[in-house]
Amino acid sequence: MKTKYMNVIIKVIAVISLFSFYACEEESNRDTLQEISIIPEPAEMTIGDGSFKFDSKTKIVANNDMQKQAANLLIASIDNLNDNQFSSEIPESNYLLFETNDKILAEGYELEITPDAITIKANDHNGFVHGIQTISQLIPISGGNHFLPTLTIKDQPRFQWRGLMLDVSRHFFEKEYILKTIERMSYFKLNTLHLHLIDDQGWRIEIKKYPKLTEVGAFRVNQEDKHWQARPKNDPNEKGTFGGFYTQEDIKEIVAHASKYGITVIPEIEMPAHVTSAIASYPEFSCLETPVAVPSGGLWPITDIYCAGKEGTFEFLEDVLVEVMDLFPSKYIHIGGDEATKTNWETCDDCQNRMKQEGLDNTEELQSYFVKRIEKFLNSKGRILIGWDEILEGGLAPGATVMSWRGTKGGWEASEQGHDVVMTPESHMYFNMYQGEADHEPLAFGGYTTMSKVYHFDPIVDSMSAEQKNHVLGAQANLWSEYITDEDISEYMIFPRLPALAEVLWSPKNKTDWTNFSKKINPLFQRLDKMDVNYSKSVYAVTSNSQLDTAKNELTISLKNEIPNSEIRYALNDDELNAEATKYTAPFLINESATIQAAVFENGKPVGRTLEKEFNFHKAFGKNLSYNPRYHKSYSGTGNKTLVNVIRGSKNFHDKQWLAWLSPEVEIIMDMVESTEMTSVSIGSMENQGSGIYFPIKFEVFLSSDGGQFDKVGEISRPFKNNVLSTLEHFKISFEKQNAQFIKVKITNLGSPPKGGGAWIFLDEITVE
Ligand code: ACM
Ligand code: ZN
Repeated sequence: MKTKYMNVIIKVIAVISLFSFYACEEESNRDTLQEISIIPEPAEMTIGDGSFKFDSKTKIVANNDMQKQAANLLIASIDNLNDNQFSSEIPESNYLLFETNDKILAEGYELEITPDAITIKANDHNGFVHGIQTISQLIPISGGNHFLPTLTIKDQPRFQWRGLMLDVSRHFFEKEYILKTIERMSYFKLNTLHLHLIDDQGWRIEIKKYPKLTEVGAFRVNQEDKHWQARPKNDPNEKGTFGGFYTQEDIKEIVAHASKYGITVIPEIEMPAHVTSAIASYPEFSCLETPVAVPSGGLWPITDIYCAGKEGTFEFLEDVLVEVMDLFPSKYIHIGGDEATKTNWETCDDCQNRMKQEGLDNTEELQSYFVKRIEKFLNSKGRILIGWDEILEGGLAPGATVMSWRGTKGGWEASEQGHDVVMTPESHMYFNMYQGEADHEPLAFGGYTTMSKVYHFDPIVDSMSAEQKNHVLGAQANLWSEYITDEDISEYMIFPRLPALAEVLWSPKNKTDWTNFSKKINPLFQRLDKMDVNYSKSVYAVTSNSQLDTAKNELTISLKNEIPNSEIRYALNDDELNAEATKYTAPFLINESATIQAAVFENGKPVGRTLEKEFNFHKAFGKNLSYNPRYHKSYSGTGNKTLVNVIRGSKNFHDKQWLAWLSPEVEIIMDMVESTEMTSVSIGSMENQGSGIYFPIKFEVFLSSDGGQFDKVGEISRPFKNNVLSTLEHFKISFEKQNAQFIKVKITNLGSPPKGGGAWIFLDEITVE
């Protein structure tokens, strides 16, 4: 899109470049033509001829506070504008007029740009905010003169809940980051920020009546040097120093800022589980009442939960909720409700008494009692309870709204029961999942949620009745922060997937087309650059797939990219990857060692990351191996020859290129068929301590000519080290050149890792050279 216009314009400019006056006019048109790329796509848009020049002489006519607030946001976001531009009268021309119009739907707006004036009509604050955000996206990316294209837009959202959840418990994020995120959400017309304020690993909101919640609960012992899931259990007597919390003043500032930007902040006060931070502060609200520590990392199962039998628990929670409701004016209050392991409730006298008194048959019903009781309290204050889909279990509270995370099933069921739902299925809406291949991404949860996958999500499930569909309020991206250790990574996981989701939730369904959207990605990236956002370019990444034909000893390589019809070019070995490199059109074969480079090209330049793959057809390729013990049946790769197929494993340990063992020692014998000259043997291994996968602590190589007598030629010892990341490594033992027919590889397992549990050994290739 951009190239076409650019070429035409460059030619035009070349022809008339002697006339600087005209050249300048062309410059203005170039700006406008290039940049009509609005995300989310407006419901209706007609583009005219000509443009409106928006500058410091433009008068802004806003008649009331609502209009002025929106106008001020615009002034703050655009260079060269200032608040001396307000005018109480409509001038002849060169003005921006705000008009309230009660025919316009909630959050909708109408925008008309003529060469003389801009008119923006809406019937509520959010409508005006969305209108000015559209203007912000019409301002040329390149800066300079602000020529806006003449056009008319009639726009309103498809869904009323367009959200993002930030988990500020697993890692704490400063207030400033929240404020910045609010502005960025507003830019893409999102309207709901869900703050996950409470979880096991940190209580993040000041509650005046219960100061220990933040004195104790907001801080944990720093074990950030270890993988989240490999952090040993904490001692309740050791004081935590790692964490933080928002004061009530901070919260007020966040809520006020959000409101200015058209965003409602929904607080989540988890219960009855995911509250170890609260139990650590006030053990008396748990069943066992024994001291516990704020955990430094992963905790499963979650058994230290609020006691559902003690009246004190409910008094405490109501007190907390009163302070929370004073701070958050939102209609909805999120009470969590997920993942409670209720074993303590089974044996607690108070809980058992409660069940008898209330005639409850099981602990699911006890949780339902808990949630219903809290709902009654929230309703008495004019609020609506929302919770994770576990609140369906044991019976849904009468007016509850359900946030469906375990797929869309919970949302389907709740809507069938006549309840409102917000869709946040893990599969598409968990932004803590990888958006590109794990090998090239910051550490994330497993899963694979690319930008196009997010874009293809629809909150409406086909099999829903019309009535059920009406109960779908919208959807929300959730960013759980176990692995989100800082703001840079948080931004990276949010962008650009959030703008993709914004279009799904705002634009009419018939206007959401991935091919059209993908043309807006390049301008989007330029805008994100300008906004100084650390975003991912993984949507431009090339991924490869390799198939081995064992009969022919050939690999078929196919290349892929998320963007339809993108220009993928590749180069083999020492060839240069440039605009003249081979254009990928179909899978190709290799049958000898090769390196492959590939990238997506736009305008003759590679965009995104370059894929680099190496295939080493080494001496053991395709040979027979015997294993003692045999590899685990859950990780059997492509079978016996997985380790000699020249295809390397990735950080995704389910990629069928890995064999794995839990055994203390593993011996693998390779038969090279005939006496073979060699100088090294190496193993490819992986470490992912969070998943219980550890590098071997010892790797030994023995050679033999007859398969009976083996002589050791080398070993590598490697003691255990904490490793936060997921890591691939090649361990190589080199020796004096010698001939052998049999090779024995001996691997020693770490056995007992510091966090407890077993240790896995993972191998993807044994290379002989
Ligand atoms: C959740 O992911 N436990 C809501
Ligand atoms: Zn109890």
